[in-house]
Order: sequence, then structure tokens, then C-alpha cells
Amino acid sequence: MTSTGFKWLLVTCLLLVVVAVADAQLTESFYASKCPSGPAKVREVIKTWITKDRTLAPALLRLHFHDCFVRGCDASVLLDGANSEKQSGGNKNSLRGFNVIDDVKAKVEALCPGVVSCSDILALAARDAILEMGGKNWSVPLGRRDGVVSLASEANANLPSPFSTFSSLVTSFAKKGLTTQDMVVLSGSHTVGLTSCALQQTRLYSFSSSVKTDPALDPTFAASLKKQCKQGDFTTKIKMDQSKPVDTWDPNYYSNIIRGRAVFTSDDQLKRNPTGLKIVQQMNRSPSPFNDNFGASMVKMGKIGVLTGTQGQIRKKCTVKN
Ligand code: HEM
Repeated sequence: MTSTGFKWLLVTCLLLVVVAVADAQLTESFYASKCPSGPAKVREVIKTWITKDRTLAPALLRLHFHDCFVRGCDASVLLDGANSEKQSGGNKNSLRGFNVIDDVKAKVEALCPGVVSCSDILALAARDAILEMGGKNWSVPLGRRDGVVSLASEANANLPSPFSTFSSLVTSFAKKGLTTQDMVVLSGSHTVGLTSCALQQTRLYSFSSSVKTDPALDPTFAASLKKQCKQGDFTTKIKMDQSKPVDTWDPNYYSNIIRGRAVFTSDDQLKRNPTGLKIVQQMNRSPSPFNDNFGASMVKMGKIGVLTGTQGQIRKKCTVKN
């Protein structure tokens, strides 16, 4: 090959690489020509549901998290099946809001059939839910495509447990390309939402062979939790942030941790390490940098293992592959 021929080959290869990389990137304007009113329709439908039932907002935020941590943000969490992610220990009888996503999808399909992915709807719904609770806006990069595989075993292996230690939380987030800062900031989501009394039983009634109640809990707080979650109650749902009567988007989670008023061991663990403690204290400052940091970490989380370009598919219904 002549040297000019070689140069052209090199230029062509470089161009192909550039195109491939650009293809793999998400952009905020992805639907600008394909379905310009799609993202606004998502916002409108989410708003309607949350106006009727405010507790749906945290549920929608958690759906996006549980989607992204298992096989990347590919809407695998939405697929039905005997052994799908929905059936895993951490998701079954716990994840909520599937009907809201189905409704959003149906309305967006009516506008632009086969264009907007279920995974993008999850990312938009999480942001829109936070806006409804009074949080700060961020731009959602779009262009994800939907996967076709969903396995309970993968959810069990990838979703962090509420009984985790600090180091296992750091490892679990690092595996997804997220830093300790991202982990502490994203955990601030627990300033809203509900949890089952089932998860309080050990901390309240059988912490160890010698101590019944987790000493990390503020005694007044533990007594209040015991009133709401009686021994043997595995079904009642309680608010995770007990410091306010109605959920609002705020940095209260961090002051709860500092005061021994966080509902999970995994929350309490964030202050048991010098790096974690420093971030908790920063988020607890007034004014708090929580809102700005949260949007940035959500954008990072929303990029975990995404399918783009010609990968995957755009599901017609979020619960089944095409
Ligand atoms: C750091 C590791 C995390 C652990 C161990 C954890 C664990 C949990 C558990 C056990 C529940 C209660 C489930 C139930 O009782 O049914 C919960 C609820 C929730 N989590 Fe997390 N979580 C973590 C991180 C996150 C992240 C990163 C987000 C969002 C970005 C998030 C958002 C939520 C929300 C919004 C709820 C309330 C859901 C509802 O009201 O239905 N969590 N989490």
C-alpha cells in the first residue's frame, strides 16, 4: 500500500472510531427530532400520578436505581417472568410504581410508536419525581435502549443490602464506576420513601445474643420505631425519614445519620468511616450542597452499562421484550 493509501485507511479507521464513540454516548436532545414532545409527556403523566399519591415519587426514583445496578440502565427491572429481577429478594413486595411506568409508556407510544425506550422513561421519571417533591432539576442524557434479559439471581448479586458495611457499600458502587462520594450522595434518596417493618426486626429486637436493640440507634428513636414496628410485624410500612410528617426533598437524611436516626445499618455505616463521615458532614451543612451533587451523581448512575445505537431494542411494552 502507498503511504497516501495508508494515511486514508488511518483517517477512515479514526472516523469509524469517532462515530462508534459518539453513538455510545447519551445526549439530552436525543428525542428532539424523533419525538420532540416525548420527555414532556413523561413529565405530565408522572405529575398526574404523584399529585394523586405522593408516595409514588420515591418508588419511581428507586426503580431507576434498581434498574441501573443490574445489567446497566436497560429497563431489565421492568420485565415480567418467573425468574426476572422483579422476583428477587430485594425487589419482590418492595419495588413499586410499575403501573405508573406502564401508563407513561402507553401514552408516549401513542405519541411516537416504537421510539422512546423504557430505560429512558425510567431515567426521566426519576428526575421528574424528584422535581415533584421539590428537588432541583438536572438534564437527563437520553438514548438508552432496552435489554431483553432479566434475572433474579443478578439482582440478588448486585443490589446492596441494608445490612451492608461501609466497605461493602463502597465496593458495590465502585463495581458500577461510582465513587464513595456518589454512594453517600445517592443514599441521600433515603430522605424520602417507605420501608417495611420486616427490615427493622433485627435492629430493634434481636441485634445480637447479648444486645436486643442496635446501640447505634438513638434510644428515643428506637422506642418510636418499636411503637410503629412491633416484634413479628413483617408487613407494616413506615417512613424512612421520620423527622417530617410529609416527604419533601431535603438533606434531612444526613442529620438523621449523625443523630442515630437512620433506619438502616447501611445508612448508619456512612458515618463509621472518616471519608464517609466527611461527606455526610458536608451534606449536612447549611446551605447544603446535596441538591447540586445529587443531580450530577444521578447522571453518572444513569450511564451505567447503557445499550445504545443498534444494541438492544425499543420495547413496545415495558413488561415484555418485543
Ligand atoms: C447505598 C445502598 C442502598 C441500600 C442498602 C438501600 C436499601 C434500601 C432498602 C432496604 C429500602 C426499603 C425497601 C423496603 O423496605 O421495601 C430502600 C428504599 C429506598 N431506596 Fe434505597 N438503598 C440504597 C441506595 C439507594 C440509592 C442509590 C437510591 C436512589 C438513587 C435509593 C433510593 C431509595 C428510595 C427512594 C427508597 C424508598 C422506596 C419506596 O418508598 O418505595 N436507595 N433502600
